[in-house]
Amino acid sequence: MKNKILNLLKSNENKFISGEEIIKQLGVSISRAAIWKHINNLKEDGYEIESISRKGYRLISCPDILTYEEISPYLKTNYVGKSILYYESIDSTNIKAKEIANKDAINGTIIISEEQVSGKGRLGRSWVSPKYKGIWMSLILTPDINPINASKITLIGAAAVFKALAALKIDCKIKWPNDIIINNKKVCGILTEMSSELNRINYIIMGMGINVNLDKIDFPPDLQNIATSLKIETNTTIQRKILTAEILNNFEYLYEELLNTNTIYNTIDICKKNSYILGKEIYVINRNEMLEAKALDIDESGELLVEFSNGIIKPVISGEVSIRKRIKDKG
Ligand code: BTN
Repeated sequence: MKNKILNLLKSNENKFISGEEIIKQLGVSISRAAIWKHINNLKEDGYEIESISRKGYRLISCPDILTYEEISPYLKTNYVGKSILYYESIDSTNIKAKEIANKDAINGTIIISEEQVSGKGRLGRSWVSPKYKGIWMSLILTPDINPINASKITLIGAAAVFKALAALKIDCKIKWPNDIIINNKKVCGILTEMSSELNRINYIIMGMGINVNLDKIDFPPDLQNIATSLKIETNTTIQRKILTAEILNNFEYLYEELLNTNTIYNTIDICKKNSYILGKEIYVINRNEMLEAKALDIDESGELLVEFSNGIIKPVISGEVSIRKRIKDKG
């Protein structure tokens, strides 16, 4: 009911709508007192609503929260984000997404939370996810593709975030396969998890963490030199709801290429042209080993071609890489 009232206020934006008119348009029996209660609830959610007796209610502004009501006006997708499960606080959206997908994996469902208290990063790390400051979301996907192709979805996610940031004129790079970097610091990470049989995927959870409006003090000291946010880098506060929708729009577009053609040429093109690591000396991190290599190319299937120090050239399917810092000669 609260959302129905919100939609009525939105469709009458900047105009007053009386309690009586709301009751009429809702077409249900609801008291004026109940409407007043819902309006107060909306105000608590951050909606600015003017109420004047005998005139009614007028919506003045909407908050930057990541509910379906706030994201959907900007969505151009057919299925991605058509169902959004919204939380104010959660342990981890990936954990929740898995719980939900284990019962009923509906393709394109998003789990999004304003805050995560046990956000998960890769390699068992934690992910700092303060309230109302970032985009912490997980997408449930049920692609009919071979599980060996699942790692391509991470690249598609990275390309989708890149395109959304590029549209905001934010100068960033993609660190294959799953990070977005600005000024040598990480602004976004992706954690893709899968449940599959030998030849078929039950579901994929693609968790994205985007540091949007975090300030430096929101990061613990050990991260302050390696992580950043869009706000820190651009000196502006960015509307998370619009950015979320743009990421989902780009994602569905690029993901459709994989489903329809079994290729990801568009994604690879974006990842290659805007790569943080191609041509650079890197470490390929394999279990506890750090192998020195040079990042040469991203091939047609999204694998990273590297040349190891013994001259052997090999593709790396997925995993961790890090840039080798050149130690400058003194004098
Ligand atoms: C990384 O280590 O770079 C991956 C970070 C992934 C963080 C996101 S935030 C939303 C989703 N839920 C989680 O617990 N983790 C992912």
